[in-house]
Amino acid sequence: MRLIFLGPPGAGKGTQAKRVAAALGVPHISTGDMLRAQIAAGTALGRQADGVMKRGELVPDDLVVAILLDRIAADDAANGFILDGFPRNVRQAQILQADPDGRIDRVVLLVIDEEEVVRRISGRRCCPEGHIYHIDDQPPLKANLCDEDGELLVQRPDDAEDVVLNRLSVYHASTEPLIGFYGERIVEVDGSGSPDQITRHILEAVRA
Ligand code: AP5
Repeated sequence: MRLIFLGPPGAGKGTQAKRVAAALGVPHISTGDMLRAQIAAGTALGRQADGVMKRGELVPDDLVVAILLDRIAADDAANGFILDGFPRNVRQAQILQADPDGRIDRVVLLVIDEEEVVRRISGRRCCPEGHIYHIDDQPPLKANLCDEDGELLVQRPDDAEDVVLNRLSVYHASTEPLIGFYGERIVEVDGSGSPDQITRHILEAVRA
C-alpha cells in the first residue's frame, strides 16, 4: 500500500501517519522530520533548509525531492509506505509520478477547519525524535518529557502564530492544487474526531 497523507499544517498527518504505518506494516516517511534531522545534524542541506522552514515557506523542490526519492528506494519501502508532507506542490507530484518507486494507490486528505488547526499547533510539543504531544489533548505522562525516550519536549520554531498563518497560506496556494492532481485517488477523512476514531476511518477508507 503506497499512500500520501495530505492536509493543512496541524491537521494530524504526522499523528495519524505513525499509527496507520504501524497498522499496515509500512514505513512512515515524513519530509518535515527528515529536514529537521538534517538541521539537528548541522548538514549543508540542514543549513539551507533552516531559515526557509522558520519562515514557513517551502524548501526548494530539488533538495527535498533528492532525499525523498532516495528514501523510497530503500528496501523497507519496497512493499509500501506512507508519505507525510510530500508532495507539497504539483511539480513534486509530477516528479514522484515519473519515478519507478513513486506509484501511489490512495491519497488520504484530512479535512479540518482553520480554528482547530491553530488550536492544535499552538498546543503541540515534540521531542527531538519527532514524537508528538498536545498540552491539552495528548499530554505526556510526565510534564515536558517524552513518554518514549525521556527527551525534553519543545515547541517547533515554525509553530509561532505568524509563521503558522504563513504556512496556511502556502498550503492553500501550493499544496491544495494536489487535490485536483490526484482526483479519484483522493479519500477524504474528517480530521476533527478523536485520534482513535480518525485512525479507524482512515484504515476503513484505504482498505475499501
Ligand atoms: P511538516 O513537518 O510536514 O509540517 P506540516 O505539514 O506543516 O504539518 P505539521 O507537522 O505542522 O502538522 P501535522 O498535520 O503533521 O499535525 P500533527 O500530527 O503534528 O513541514 C514543516 C516544514 O518543512 C514546511 O513548512 C516546509 O518548510 C518544510 N517541508 C516539509 N516537506 C516539504 C516538502 N515536501 N517540500 C518543501 N518543503 C517541505 O498534529 C498537530 C497537533 O495536534 C499535535 O499537537 C497533535 O498532538 C494534535 N492532534 C493531532 N490529532 C489530534 C486529534 N485528533 N485531536 C486533538 N489533537 C490532535
